[in-house]
Amino acid sequence: MKILSVVGARPNFMKVAPIIAAVESHNRKVSVSSDGGEPIQHLLVHTGQHYGDLMSDSFFADLGLPKPDVHMGVGSGSHAVQSAEIMKRFEEILLAERPDVVIVVGDVNSTLACAVVTSKISFDTNGARPLIAHVESGLRSFDRTMPEEINRVVTDHVVDLLFVTEESGIRNLKNEGISPDKIHFVGNTMIDSLLRFLAKADSSKKLDELHLRLPSGNTGRSSVTPYALLTMHRPANVDNPEAFREILAGLEELATDLPIVFPVHPRTRKRMEEFGLKLHLSGESKSNAGGLVLIDPLGYLDFLCLMKNAAIVVTDSGGIQEETTCLGVPCVTVRDNTERPVTVDKGTNVIAGTAQAGIRAAIRSQRTRSGSNSVPQFWDGHAAERIVDLLSRVRQSNLVRA
Ligand code: UD1
Repeated sequence: MKILSVVGARPNFMKVAPIIAAVESHNRKVSVSSDGGEPIQHLLVHTGQHYGDLMSDSFFADLGLPKPDVHMGVGSGSHAVQSAEIMKRFEEILLAERPDVVIVVGDVNSTLACAVVTSKISFDTNGARPLIAHVESGLRSFDRTMPEEINRVVTDHVVDLLFVTEESGIRNLKNEGISPDKIHFVGNTMIDSLLRFLAKADSSKKLDELHLRLPSGNTGRSSVTPYALLTMHRPANVDNPEAFREILAGLEELATDLPIVFPVHPRTRKRMEEFGLKLHLSGESKSNAGGLVLIDPLGYLDFLCLMKNAAIVVTDSGGIQEETTCLGVPCVTVRDNTERPVTVDKGTNVIAGTAQAGIRAAIRSQRTRSGSNSVPQFWDGHAAERIVDLLSRVRQSNLVRA
């Protein structure tokens, strides 16, 4: 069986890495057992939606991902240009490689583009094509102004196997009329990566570089200065100067008290320069004096280390809401909605909206939050094994559909 997995943007890399590890483990089992099934040939295709060391290469190194078998190098562009470039090149790759299964993950433009191309490809006159699997299926914000929501909905309606991370996903897909036999609740491959790399993240030197680790003193054990971690890159939050200023105003109170470490996404950096927002909220850059500490985007292990040790995380990302839930770190989401309601149900995540009063109130309540942390079902480090096990049991004859 030949499986082709697509990665494109930063949040895709940690979702695919465990799948590749599970394929390798499957192949090891097959090689020592006569009835262990068929070996899987795996191909990794990188669209190049994200590129360069900070947004792509460092993740390959941190996650131990193999070099992509094919790198399309599409780069940045409008949604139409980027998606169209990916579609054109992916069609050629499919025709050359003729995989049995195509795996797409998450909700980025690369996910949508490759799922749509695969759903329409034809390997022969009967219209045979690969089976398409979507990892992280069924999430819905019900906000069609988010580009990712369009990507999620369209992708889920053209794929054959829908791998769901949380129960809301099953409900959403059924409500949209998707047949229950296509839906598989397997857990969260992003959490597979988190659990696998958490211990390794402890060797990150970022806390020391940012002067956030206190010297060990007499006890011989160092401790971490309380700090907040901020990420912000969603177009609705950073592409409009008033919206962006409003969010920064909502962070001012927190910044007088704790240093806010802010790894700045390239989109956000560009906007900050355009809007002249650089000096707004810039307290002392010495991290134990409060204020905003602007740094470059971080690699996976460095970011995990900062997230794990943060007193509070403020974000507009999807994946970080899940990772903080797993870590039990209080999270404030600067958006009006979430497609990941389980993170709110579990109590680690609060949806603050984007107005300064709401952000300030959510931060206050999260800073005094107490209570135990429980992790959602199947967020146990074995989601990718479930996926590969399921794929390996789909008989070859069922894969290429006429
Ligand atoms: C994309 C995803 C979003 C995801 C985010 C994580 C879509 C629609 N959006 O948003 O879901 O949460 O990635 O980062 O797919 N840029 C660089 N270097 C890069 C990548 C981007 O400089 O490696 C700059 C470019 O100027 C580009 C801008 O950032 O125009 C936006 O990049 P793009 O990939 O279009 O969307 P993101 O905002 O990163």
